[in-house]
Amino acid sequence: MSDVKIGIIVGSIRGKSQSDRIGQYINMLIDNFDLKVEVDYFSLRDMNVPLWNEEKWESDSDLKNFWKPVSERLKSCHGFVVICPEWSGMAPPHLKNFLLMCDGGELAHKPAQLIAVSSGTGGAYPIAELRMSGYKNNFLWWMPDHMILRQVEELFISSPQTALDTRLTARLNYGLEFLIETAKAMQPVREKVQNLMLYKNGM
Ligand SMILES: Cc1cc2nc3c(=O)[nH]c(=O)nc-3n(C[C@H](O)[C@H](O)[C@H](O)COP(=O)(O)O)c2cc1C
Repeated sequence: MSDVKIGIIVGSIRGKSQSDRIGQYINMLIDNFDLKVEVDYFSLRDMNVPLWNEEKWESDSDLKNFWKPVSERLKSCHGFVVICPEWSGMAPPHLKNFLLMCDGGELAHKPAQLIAVSSGTGGAYPIAELRMSGYKNNFLWWMPDHMILRQVEELFISSPQTALDTRLTARLNYGLEFLIETAKAMQPVREKVQNLMLYKNGM
């Protein structure tokens, strides 16, 4: 029986995506915690989420029926890790679309650890973008301490680990522990205060 469930959302749809590789690494780190944490893995590549359209607001539409089981899975999570590659200085549109689809309280007032991934020296733009937009109406709650994994193809592939791998892993573990404890702590606060009927959208 788990105490808390963390959803890992991987924002790349590429076949051999580095974001996915990092997602698997994060999954392994969470498994290594001596805590009762369950993980659900949301790979946008495997999920094939359609582009948002007005069917989302129509009951029994194809889009609504597609989304229902995804929505239930997200609702059962207490916190999230969001892994976002930098694509042309942006968060991929698939990830923004996914965040747009979450209009049923799936992510609301739940903490999320944001991790940007770049094969070069980028990664700052998607952090800035996601911190500025993409959370207003779904009420996802970004943790203050994000991470940027640059030159990602060289990370976490050596055995023994490089000094940089060790430093980054320690910091990832620090962020994940913070996320897990915050996810637990926020649940009673949501139950006590959250009112999405009254305040469905952010300002
Ligand atoms: C369409 C596209 C645009 C990209 N643009 C950037 C960029 O602006 N800055 C950057 O650092 N990396 C860029 N990259 C490289 C990604 O950082 C690289 O693919 C990395 O592995 C993370 O993406 P992935 O999870 O899809 O593999 C781009 C990749 C793609 C597919």
